[in-house]
Amino acid sequence: MIDKYGRQITYLRLSVTELCNLRCRYCMPAEGICKKDHSQMMTEEEIVLAVKAAASLGVRKLRITGGEPLVKKNILSICEKTGAVKGIQEVCLTTNGILLPEMAKDLRRAGVSRVNISLDTLNPERYAYITRIGSLKQAMAGIEAALAAGFERVKINAVLIGGFNDGEIRDLAGLTCRYPLDVRFIELMPMSGSREFGEDSYLPGTAVLDRIPELEPASADGGVARLYRIPGGKGQVGLISPVSAHFCGLCNRLRLTADGKIKPCLHSSAEYSIRGLDEAGMRAQFLRAMEEKPAWHGELSAKCPSQAGRSMNQIGG
Ligand code: 5AD
Ligand code: SF4
Repeated sequence: MIDKYGRQITYLRLSVTELCNLRCRYCMPAEGICKKDHSQMMTEEEIVLAVKAAASLGVRKLRITGGEPLVKKNILSICEKTGAVKGIQEVCLTTNGILLPEMAKDLRRAGVSRVNISLDTLNPERYAYITRIGSLKQAMAGIEAALAAGFERVKINAVLIGGFNDGEIRDLAGLTCRYPLDVRFIELMPMSGSREFGEDSYLPGTAVLDRIPELEPASADGGVARLYRIPGGKGQVGLISPVSAHFCGLCNRLRLTADGKIKPCLHSSAEYSIRGLDEAGMRAQFLRAMEEKPAWHGELSAKCPSQAGRSMNQIGG
């Protein structure tokens, strides 16, 4: 699939649930979400069929997200079956890490090659604050479990939030010296769930370069992150700047929500349902979604929030 702006679409972000065992302030409302009826969500069979349709159109990489994908009961089976679809070369997963101590090895066995783990702070009180209900100790145990399970790569995703974790940039990046993993700083995006953040919370990714002047540029890996390395570090430090320097020209992805809607762009309310369709019908919807992929996501700021029409847990972070 090549869209009308010449972008080759090879990557599908697949959300398998809207539910989560944390309540991160930039992602979800405090009370959690109104649990949708089971019948509104894609079944495992529909998920696999959708991946077949996407793979037949050239999708090669899958990222399984949520909500929190590890709270989904049949997650191992989903990873295994989608990874076995002809054409799919790689299954990655994004998680908050809380359930990794008991699940990391099984996920690796089910064919997941890489995991991204969300961690915005190394301070226990701040972790409890930003996640509303989480424990840093559990998240750190999850990271250790991922490293022990032998994934090809472990990445930490830290959302940069002015007045919250900007004093910890050096410590977070320093994880790449302590462990064989990569750390990526992601600019806070003004989503519907992040209204409580004022203008000062939105830091440009370049704040990381100001705080750690010794960062050395490293060569890009084809993704949307700008990559650096702390001299002597074991892993890379990446900057993902969807707000200050949108990377839409490099965007190679579509998203599929847990309730079966293809989203051509994270920040647009356009959605294409695949519920109840056969593989050919799903393929047609993927092609339609790709046709509608916008050139870029438009202005994003505290005053000009995302037009996604859903909170992040309902899209897939
Ligand atoms: N801004 C930036 N990143 C976000 N995520 C969720 N909400 C936001 C937001 N408002 C990302 C975090 C998390 C992943 C699941 O989704 O990086 O690690
Ligand atoms: Fe692509 Fe939309 Fe993300 Fe821009 S905002 S990078 S167009 S998905």
